[in-house]
Amino acid sequence: MFTSLTKFSQWSRSAFAVATLPLLSGCDLNFWRMEGHQSTITVEGVVAREQLQLFYITCWVSLVIFVLVGGVLAYATLKFRARSAADEHAEPPPQGHGNPLIELGLIGASVLALVVIAVPTMQGIWSTYDVPEAEKKDALQITCTGNQWWFKFEYPSELAPINNAGAKAPLITANELIIPAGRAVRVNLRTVDVIHSFWLPKLAGKVDMIPNRANHIYIRADHPGYYWGQCAEYCGDSHAVMRFRVIALDQKEYAEWLEQQSQLARTLAPRPTDTTQAKAQFASLRSFKQNETGVTDKFEINPLESWRAKQSPEKNEDAALIATGRQLFSTKACLACHNIRGHDAPGITGPDLTHIGSRTTIAGGLLENNSEQLRRWIHNPGAVKPGNKMSLAYARIGQDGKPIDGIKLTGDEEVALVAYLESLK
Ligand code: CUA
Repeated sequence: MFTSLTKFSQWSRSAFAVATLPLLSGCDLNFWRMEGHQSTITVEGVVAREQLQLFYITCWVSLVIFVLVGGVLAYATLKFRARSAADEHAEPPPQGHGNPLIELGLIGASVLALVVIAVPTMQGIWSTYDVPEAEKKDALQITCTGNQWWFKFEYPSELAPINNAGAKAPLITANELIIPAGRAVRVNLRTVDVIHSFWLPKLAGKVDMIPNRANHIYIRADHPGYYWGQCAEYCGDSHAVMRFRVIALDQKEYAEWLEQQSQLARTLAPRPTDTTQAKAQFASLRSFKQNETGVTDKFEINPLESWRAKQSPEKNEDAALIATGRQLFSTKACLACHNIRGHDAPGITGPDLTHIGSRTTIAGGLLENNSEQLRRWIHNPGAVKPGNKMSLAYARIGQDGKPIDGIKLTGDEEVALVAYLESLK
């Protein structure tokens, strides 16, 4: 059954690709192959595959109806058209009251078409609603909370130390969800503010995150990979740039990642370094235009490899510069909103930054995580993501409507802060 369904999907995909060829001839090859980051046609997870098959069944049934109705319409139009000037003024043909056999036949055919679509639809709703019984015991539980405009991921079963005294709490990350490939994952969907929607096209469909309502989604990735996700419900100014990633790893690599993430934030022992060289690594800053897109195309080649490269520390780390950055993180009040476990940063309103250096993206999955983009973000977050909470801390407005002093950073301070954040692997 599975093989024949797979063949059905492959065959359907080719047929639709050919059918839409004239429409897409102006687009790039990936688009034509339907292999974009957020393609629902090239799927890599069980739930998305089942939904795709349902899509194809619906398309084929609609196509048959379209051909039949269109064919009869074309036939009638051609056969009974006016052939001469005399025909145009002819009396209408004798009017009948229909043919009971044809009418019953049409009702029967419509019911049949609906049943053909309804049966797999109901089946799909049941089988993709939650983790299958057989896999429930082994399923990984994740709690994902939507925030304007980023995603918080919590691992309730993975306790990580939160301070040097040994207190523990569930592991928390932001915007990049790491999961074991081939294992069922149940993502419990919550929100702290408005309605968001969790959409992960290549692995599963979309489910809304609604205030005061406990929703969930079931995902399972076929193999290790790097997947693009997106908020799919309008949620305010920066809805369109509220993104996330899911990175599926094999068991061994996943265990290593858990081990690394469960550590407190890195603290570098001071050691002599070539400061000029290290500083140059973080110094680049060109002026970005309002809302200019980030440089994220490098991922296209092999995003999973880009992610792996992020897991180990940079070569020319400048311990003194990083220490300055760490100090600035508290004096500039960044710690009021962000948590860095082990570095006395207790904030909870913003994303957890304990291991931010090991992520491939920043700013809610919008920008590539490199020194240039990090500096761009902390220089003026409001220009990247209009209306976000961090930008309010930069331009605070008093109760009298007049601006009061918000966060101000000099170029050197930005460089030190970026060095510090990048060191948090
Ligand atoms: Cu969150 Cu749209």
